[in-house]
Amino acid sequence: MAWIRFMPEDKSAKVKPGTTLFQAGRAARVFIRSRCGGNAACLMCKVKVEDQSGLAPPNRNEILKLGSLTKQGVRLSCQARITGDVTVEVPEDPLKSAIRALLAKQQEDDDGI
Ligand code: FES
Repeated sequence: MAWIRFMPEDKSAKVKPGTTLFQAGRAARVFIRSRCGGNAACLMCKVKVEDQSGLAPPNRNEILKLGSLTKQGVRLSCQARITGDVTVEVPEDPLKSAIRALLAKQQEDDDGI
């Protein structure tokens, strides 16, 4: 079994080797965006993994879709298979980011009055 830690939410799950990061995210109740159902088509499930010692090397789909990004630690969570403990950075949903920015601007405007 391997421990997978998802940041920035700091949630973890213990999963069997061979599980994808996407499946581990579900086990940890971490939302990872997806539109293609894990078929390496939408590229919405990208995550960042600094230390990839707990992951199998990128498969053909990842190399085709991500190219050199895989060397910078970017992986498709629906394709990346777990081999050991790993920590994963999940990017914030763009909609959440936009809402957060709007709320911050509104707060600034309210403070300025
Ligand atoms: S879920 Fe669509 S590329 Fe991974």
